[in-house]
Amino acid sequence: MLNVALPKGRLGENVYRLFEAAGFPCPSLLDGSRKLIFENEEAQVRYFWAKPSDVAIYVERGAADIGVAGKDILLEYEPDVYELLDLQMGKCRMAVAAPKDYQDDSRYTLKVATKFSRIAREYYTSIGRDIDIIHLNGSIEIAPILGLSDVIVDIVETGTTLKENNLEVIETIVPISARLIANKSSFKFKQAQIEKIVREMSK
Ligand code: PRP
Repeated sequence: MLNVALPKGRLGENVYRLFEAAGFPCPSLLDGSRKLIFENEEAQVRYFWAKPSDVAIYVERGAADIGVAGKDILLEYEPDVYELLDLQMGKCRMAVAAPKDYQDDSRYTLKVATKFSRIAREYYTSIGRDIDIIHLNGSIEIAPILGLSDVIVDIVETGTTLKENNLEVIETIVPISARLIANKSSFKFKQAQIEKIVREMSK
């Protein structure tokens, strides 16, 4: 049985469709129920819906053999997994954004609000800018509006959230997309199945 962690939410159904097309169907998964675990014995596969930011944890610890996680999560948490494939889905970017009239003043430590503390720290270290990280869990865009931070480091997809809150991108840090990841020992012991998936998904 191959255990697959799927990201619940926006990308979920499209990600499942890739596995289905790769020869691992499980039709009950799309029946609209609130169940989180689905199995197709015939295809020897078990799927479960995980919070997108948790997929890499299941895979790293072997509760899932493979899964799909955003590059943002892989960069932020550096889980000990194999990154097998860029699925070219869920494309967005990690960016620095600030209020429209914002001017950086390098005499002061920059206050940066973000969910992605490691990515932000590494980016500002690379450009030699002193910062103070304010770690938040969501709604990052309100931080500079309320004076909690000077800038934010966050995911930008369409740019609508920034625009509607009078913020703009100052710098793109890194492009992001969904990645197929595998547990390191599963990759050895379930190699045939995993390689089949990689082959089919690369077509
Ligand atoms: C992400 C991100 C932005 C928004 C960007 O949040 O944090 O708020 O999407 O998308 P846009 O550029 O298309 O407007 P998400 O909806 O994933 O929720 P979260 O804040 O709980 O992470």
